[in-house]
Amino acid sequence: MGRGIAQQASVSGHEVVLVEIQEKTLNEAFAFIQKMINRFAEKGKMDNTEAVASIGRIYCSTYLSSLEKCDLVIEAVVENLELKKSIFNKVESIVSADCILASNTSSLSITNIAGSLRHPERMIGIHFFNPVPLMKLVEIIPAIQTKSEYVEDCKSMMVGWGKYPVVAKDTPGFIVNKVARPFYSEALRIYDEGIASIEDIDHAMTDLGGFRMGPFTLMDYIGNDVNYAVTESVFEAFYYDPRYKPSFTQKRLSEAGWLGRKSGRGYYTYVDGKPQKTQEEFHYQKSTFQRILAMLINEAADTMHMGIASRDDIDLAVTKGVNYPKGLLQWADEIGVGLVVNQLDELYHHYREDRYRCSGLLRTIAERQSTFYDA
Ligand SMILES: NC(=O)c1ccc[n+]([C@@H]2O[C@H](COP(=O)([O-])OP(=O)(O)OC[C@H]3O[C@@H](n4cnc5c(N)ncnc54)[C@H](O)[C@@H]3O)[C@@H](O)[C@H]2O)c1
Repeated sequence: MGRGIAQQASVSGHEVVLVEIQEKTLNEAFAFIQKMINRFAEKGKMDNTEAVASIGRIYCSTYLSSLEKCDLVIEAVVENLELKKSIFNKVESIVSADCILASNTSSLSITNIAGSLRHPERMIGIHFFNPVPLMKLVEIIPAIQTKSEYVEDCKSMMVGWGKYPVVAKDTPGFIVNKVARPFYSEALRIYDEGIASIEDIDHAMTDLGGFRMGPFTLMDYIGNDVNYAVTESVFEAFYYDPRYKPSFTQKRLSEAGWLGRKSGRGYYTYVDGKPQKTQEEFHYQKSTFQRILAMLINEAADTMHMGIASRDDIDLAVTKGVNYPKGLLQWADEIGVGLVVNQLDELYHHYREDRYRCSGLLRTIAERQSTFYDA
């Protein structure tokens, strides 16, 4: 991720100091950035002079002390809280008093990292998506200690980088990694119960829902180890809320090393990187698509209800961060919020599980016969 962020920052006109602890990785990262920028130029997306200038703006170092003159430091080391805290402690003593300190963490609390600093008000989360130069969404996560003007500064900077910044409260999974959970977990639940096959569920979501990939194809693409770890961490971080309960099916795949595309086998078997289909015909049901969509809408509505993000930022996050065909709250309005509430209530009455509880906001909007975009 660090190399992608460095590339993006340099093509956006900044002088960049790329710090990596291992010299070999640093050299590989710089070579990779050069290759990517040159490829942009070859494709005509950037002129040659600008490509040369962008590469020239990157200074590589294995020493944190090289960050001395930076106005913004974006950390993207491995996902380890104590390591991140110790790095920021060192960085804080190197940079000037008005340098903003940002973490690209996907799952750790920004407030927790900020808590270990002498000046916690300058700590913020800037969460990019992979590959950074192509993915337009950036989640900005202020810690509870963050000075509000830094939120605005980071948002404006990201707009300058051609990104869509959305602001999320410092809660597990921020927006995307929280709101998107049911896409995977409800698909797994439907499969685990024997209601539909993997291929039928995937086709229900692509053919009926217009999603670019079905949940199982996408989990295989992300990697079952990575996807399972995110689900498990969100589940634990939300005090074991059953809404985020992971599936044993995915755990077993991960344990077996059936990680998906990268290992050649996951939910599908891969030949030349392509998933091999086993079914000749598909018998997917509308109810499969409706059930997964209702759970996604519920999660989006609850994220808004809990003040984690605004309606517009939630819808922007899912369209730009995970390429959903529509914003989930806009989708709820189009289907009819009352209908979504009925679907969730039916699931709740059938299973009697807290997992299927309807968000209070969704129910209020339905009772008022209103919509998210009118309310
Ligand atoms: N991979 C993704 O798709 C993705 C997406 C969004 C956010 N993130 C977040 O970005 C961060 C990095 O993830 P990644 O997948 O790039 O990890 P990675 O393991 O590929 O890269 C981390 C790099 O940090 C270096 N490093 C470790 N300690 C260091 C130190 N003290 N000083 C300088 N460099 C040091 C390592 O040598 C390694 O090259 C994590 O917090 C992760 O949660 C990752």
